[in-house]
Amino acid sequence: MLSRAARAGITVPNVLGLEKSSIRMDFIEGKTVKDSLNDLPEKERVWVSKSIGEMASFLHKSGMVHGDLTTSNMILKDEKLYLIDFGLGKFSQKVEDQAVDLFLLYEALKAAHYKYLNETWQNILKIYKQNYSNAPQILKRFEKISLRRRYK
Ligand SMILES: Nc1ncnc2c1ncn2[C@@H]1O[C@H](COP(=O)(O)OP(=O)(O)O)[C@@H](O)[C@H]1O
Ligand SMILES: [Mg+2]
Repeated sequence: MLSRAARAGITVPNVLGLEKSSIRMDFIEGKTVKDSLNDLPEKERVWVSKSIGEMASFLHKSGMVHGDLTTSNMILKDEKLYLIDFGLGKFSQKVEDQAVDLFLLYEALKAAHYKYLNETWQNILKIYKQNYSNAPQILKRFEKISLRRRYK
């Protein structure tokens, strides 16, 4: 999944080798988005949000879902945003799977970055919609999932 994500244009750690049950990869010496987003200046925060939107659109466009698209799994280093932790990832073009991927992202922002929830979400969606032609369908399902959760 790491190599497929890289081919899809997503910045991920370089895979150095595969062993029996482990993957050797570059260590990204940076800070997670979870630990830095709330302290970033507005300009950078907007850049990070748009980069998250781009990441999500590239993933979904290539038929991948990450499975744990939270800010703990994104690392900032040298003006680049790395996506890690594909342990729950899978290949899926299903509207439901991709909408759930976005829903987890939204919930993660709500939990850890509530102050900037609206701003970051709008910037993420702006780029997601620009890059991904299925976005309207996915977002429609996203709304359905939100309602489902709300009335449970
Ligand atoms: N390639 C990497 N470079 C730098 N830090 C990493 C890398 N992979 C994982 N980490 C760090 O380890 C933490 C846990 O790894 P992760 O792959 O997210 O596993 P999980 O969340 O399933 O425990 C990450 O949140 C990150 O802080
Ligand atoms: Mg993780």
